[in-house]
This record gives sequence, C-alpha cells and structure tokens, in this order.
Amino acid sequence: MRILVINGPNLNLLGIRETNIYGSQTYEDLLAYIQSAGAELGAQITCFQSNHEGVIVDKIQSALETFDGIIINPAAYTHTSVAILDALKAVALPTVEVHLSDVCAREDFRKISFIRHACLATFSGHGFAGYRMAIEKLMEK
Ligand code: DQA
Repeated sequence: MRILVINGPNLNLLGIRETNIYGSQTYEDLLAYIQSAGAELGAQITCFQSNHEGVIVDKIQSALETFDGIIINPAAYTHTSVAILDALKAVALPTVEVHLSDVCAREDFRKISFIRHACLATFSGHGFAGYRMAIEKLMEK
C-alpha cells in the first residue's frame, strides 16, 4: 500500500515550536518514526511538508493514481481550509486526519475541522503514535 503523508504549516518546526504542547522531538524524528512504522506494517510511505495551502492542494491532486491513501496533519489549515477539504473530496482517496495534540482539549477554534468531512478517521492527541494508528487504519481499509 502506497501512502502519502502530508504535514502542514509549522510542523517543520517540531522540537522548537511550543515544546510544552508538541514535545521536544524534531520533524526529522517524526519522519524517521513514520518511515519505521510504515516498514513494520508493510506500507510504502512518502512524506511531504508545506507551509502553503495551494502547494498542499497541488500535492493532494497529484496523489491521484500514485497513492492508495493519504494521511494528513493539515495543522492550522485544519480549522480554515475549504480548499484542502475540496481537494481531498475531489481525489476521493481513503484519508485519515492526524493531530499530535488533542485539538478538542485546546482553544475552541481548534475544535472545528473542515478536513474531517473527507476523512474516515481522526487520531488526535496521541503524539507521533497517531501516524502509526493512521497507517493501521488505512491498511485495515
Ligand atoms: C496540530 C493542531 C493544530 O491546531 C495546530 O494549528 C498545528 C498542529 C497538531 O498536530 O496538534 O499546527 O495539527
């Protein structure tokens, strides 16, 4: 199974940004974690990160016929982006939403997810392990 993992804005600053919320492990640590979970579970993983909404839309569109599923942590775009939601709906690949932190236990504006409407599951508040859960979910599917 070929899975595209998309990480949105500021996730490249893991290990530096708000370590009280996101922890001290870096984005490179996250990439290594995802690759090793993929290898263990028998999935072929490609990771992509961008701080730009349109670039994320382009990447989702390009996933058609190249990937069997998408895992996305849209970061702040979770709470604002109809464009990313529409792109996910357009390609209609099985998609799982992941958040490192428990978005429902934070500010009210983080409780809203536009992206969720195109996802078969959401894992929130499990740290890196949420990505592994997402791989498992897609493989079950
Ligand atoms: C996040 C939660 C979002 O609310 C926030 O904007 C992020 C990261 C998470 O992984 O917990 O940048 O998606």
